[in-house]
Amino acid sequence: MKRIVDRLGRPLKDLRISVTDQCNFRCVYCMPAEIFGPDFRFLQPNELLTVDEMVMLAHSFADLGVEKVRITGGEPLLRKDLAVFIEKLTKIDGIKDIALTTNGVHLVKWAEILKQAGLQRVNVSLDALDDDVFKKMNGVGVGVAPVLKGIEAAKKAGLKVKVNMVVKKGLNDSQIVPMARYFKQEGITLRFIEFMDVGTSNGWDFSHVVTKKEIYEQVCQIHPLEPVEPDYFGEVASRYRYTGTNTEVGFIASVTESFCRSCTRARVSADGKLYTCLFAAEGVSLKELLRQGAEKERIEEFIIATWNKRTDRYSDERTEQSAKERKKIEMSYIGG
Ligand code: GTP
Ligand code: 5AD
Ligand code: SF4
Ligand code: SF4
Repeated sequence: MKRIVDRLGRPLKDLRISVTDQCNFRCVYCMPAEIFGPDFRFLQPNELLTVDEMVMLAHSFADLGVEKVRITGGEPLLRKDLAVFIEKLTKIDGIKDIALTTNGVHLVKWAEILKQAGLQRVNVSLDALDDDVFKKMNGVGVGVAPVLKGIEAAKKAGLKVKVNMVVKKGLNDSQIVPMARYFKQEGITLRFIEFMDVGTSNGWDFSHVVTKKEIYEQVCQIHPLEPVEPDYFGEVASRYRYTGTNTEVGFIASVTESFCRSCTRARVSADGKLYTCLFAAEGVSLKELLRQGAEKERIEEFIIATWNKRTDRYSDERTEQSAKERKKIEMSYIGG
């Protein structure tokens, strides 16, 4: 196996692959309905990577040291051939961890099938327990019940489940304590995520961010916390345990405690472009190479050359100005 590092000495270890840019939600912080309306041009079917193309890329990434593949979107469960993709991923030497990030609504239908195909774990996004707050956050008026049912289905199927909550000031900060209480009681890890300036559509501003510190203080009020060692090098969440229990809670503080120093993630968009940062403006097309019939060696050389040049550390350098003025790709397209 070849091991490659970027200009800042960071190895390539994870692949986040977006399987669709479409979603059944319109979360205000990701795909605001005013922008992602009926006229929005999503990728056409022939622009998307096929399962076989995604598998070919995954083989190359695994040869270069990738051990973890996270499937994202948009909403990945909208992709009908997902189980086939997962099954093929499980056959690739070197890939030890296959995970999915979803809004959970379609898990009732898919959890068992995907587990059978070889999926190990899911991260489910849920931003509130109160129906009215959640409906406002997801922009399509879906209540909390379908997501909780999805979480239940995932657990029943034997998938490991974590919950992600993006906190946006004035919208769902009232939900921090109820969410912490509920998922502590359920024994499910809840991760609070600072609202980030991904893309150019979500009207981000520092004043909308509830910081890790502020959230931490609220969570401590229900039960004291103690730190837990990271699960793997470059884990994005800082982890804690409710003292005296086995239940964890995490904080993903990309704004106030950035983690670029240990960022080992490559991202592939649904149309096959390789991005070396969530906040990148441009990607390089792997799909073109694939469709020109490039051999695996050639694809690997291309990935190596791209990774070797990598200097990204956007969150370390973020300023109010860069957040507003820099051209960035949308989260729904690159998958977070
Ligand atoms: P685990 O493997 O379970 O630790 O998953 P994860 O936290 O890496 O992935 P998930 O899709 O659940 O993402 C949780 C949050 O972390 C989302 O808001 C992502 O956008 C954010 N995130 C993941 N990777 C990065 C990254 O490299 N940079 C930044 N800034 N945010 C990231
Ligand atoms: N800031 C922080 N997290 C975000 N996500 C989507 N948009 C943002 C944003 N602007 C989260 C989703 C999901 C994960 C992939 O990224 O809620 O949990
Ligand atoms: Fe869809 Fe996830 Fe974006 Fe919400 S955060 S609009 S569920 S892709
Ligand atoms: Fe990695 Fe870019 Fe996120 Fe920093 S901002 S952790 S370099 S993806």
